[in-house]
Amino acid sequence: MSFAFTEVNEARIPKILAKYPNRQSALLPLLTLVQRQEGHVSAEAMAEIGKRLELSPAYVQSVASFYTMYHFQPTGKYIILFCINISCQLRGADNLVEYTAGKLGIKVGETTPDRKYTLKREECLAACCNAPMMRVNDKYYEDLTKEKIDQILATLP
Ligand code: FES
Repeated sequence: MSFAFTEVNEARIPKILAKYPNRQSALLPLLTLVQRQEGHVSAEAMAEIGKRLELSPAYVQSVASFYTMYHFQPTGKYIILFCINISCQLRGADNLVEYTAGKLGIKVGETTPDRKYTLKREECLAACCNAPMMRVNDKYYEDLTKEKIDQILATLP
């Protein structure tokens, strides 16, 4: 399988590179660009990024795998990340994760068969004062309850 940037993203690359003193510094922005385009970062995409930035695929993979924000397998349209660190845990995050998993009919780490939702646990997302919280793609939802989760999921197209 091969990977190619879309025309729009291809046009973004020179602008991204221009922001940094050397090509290698653009690694995270290009990984993010790929993930926004494809929903995950494939081995082929990492190889392509490596070519562009003059980095080995192994180096690209080693950096990418450090960050939990990158996904290496196809995901659902909505990636639900539940914070399970101390503030959220003390305010019931574990129960809410289990509740959501049951509602979606999947386990944590899985994607629904219709590829609409992927459910994951995540480390602190820096919204501790409004725990428990989850992130769905780029949006934060805080002070969660089971009822709020029902409402949020019902509004996702
Ligand atoms: S502990 Fe959940 S956002 Fe910080």
